[in-house]
Amino acid sequence: MADLSVELASLALRNPILSASGTFGHGLEMEHFSPPHTMGGLVSKTVTLRPRPGNTAPRIHETEAGFLNSIGLENRGIGAYLRDVLPRVADADTRIFTNIGGEEAGEFAELASMLDERDEVDALEVNLSCPNVGGGRLPFSTDPALAERVMRGVREATDKPVFAKLSPNVTRIGEIARGAEAGGADGVTAVNTLLGMAVDWRHRKPRIASVQAGYSGTGIKPVALRCAWECARAVDVPVIGCGGVGSAEDVLEFVVAGCSAVQVGTAAFSDPALPGTLAEHLDDLLEAEGVASVRELVGSLDREGRAPA
Ligand SMILES: Cc1cc2nc3c(=O)[nH]c(=O)nc-3n(C[C@H](O)[C@H](O)[C@H](O)COP(=O)(O)O)c2cc1C
Repeated sequence: MADLSVELASLALRNPILSASGTFGHGLEMEHFSPPHTMGGLVSKTVTLRPRPGNTAPRIHETEAGFLNSIGLENRGIGAYLRDVLPRVADADTRIFTNIGGEEAGEFAELASMLDERDEVDALEVNLSCPNVGGGRLPFSTDPALAERVMRGVREATDKPVFAKLSPNVTRIGEIARGAEAGGADGVTAVNTLLGMAVDWRHRKPRIASVQAGYSGTGIKPVALRCAWECARAVDVPVIGCGGVGSAEDVLEFVVAGCSAVQVGTAAFSDPALPGTLAEHLDDLLEAEGVASVRELVGSLDREGRAPA
């Protein structure tokens, strides 16, 4: 057996496989397909201060190589999450990450301080792709100073490990990662969805009511991998890779590119049992390669492009 355990800042995970926010319910909805003990952690759907009804339909569209979605952060708000969801995950045999979203920096800090009191939560993931309502609705993830401000507020509100989830829809993601790190992030997640759209030309209509939507799944893997690699080069804190992961081979590509853990999102829609099987497949791959611990491979990419000796 290879050692699959990894460390994300002060947080030890049994293996590097996490669910991706918004694709796995709050985690336990999928327990019969992917039991929590088979995964390193479960990341909740984004929780906001107030309930959000989400965007109007159609808000999901399957493309040749992934999904377009514009769910609009539909959720029942932090009150319902604290009351109904957290007691149910209390005994889950895995790490629980709560993903939070806000319309202004202060909302993220408020959410963080409410969650800080709850032992069921092991870590926070901060969804910086939310539009900054007070700043022309540009997402917090598009400006290093904004990312820093949000993370500083969150850092001051909680002692739990905090991870900044970044958007790929920027020119230099490494600079945003640095901003998040300067604000006190214990790590960064790279990445959220890519902006995309789809058109039904016969009816002259967009396939998604909001026209623009987030693109995820197999098609985004090369972009996500490049973003994760750029982040790993830019910051000293751990990077969690996310985008198009559908196999243990994919997981190891992200690990070699510099990620300490990896999230699985869209692939779990077609196979909800997949996340729960990845650790076993990882073990097989590492054993076949004679690698004793997955940690040995983190960031082992040979940047000169030479084949390893
Ligand atoms: C239907 C759907 C809903 C999502 N909801 C959220 C969300 O609430 N918060 C968030 O941070 N990311 C959300 N995401 C983005 C995913 O967590 C992930 O970053 C992205 O889909 C890329 O990973 P993947 O290609 O493995 O799906 C959502 C993605 C999908 C497909």
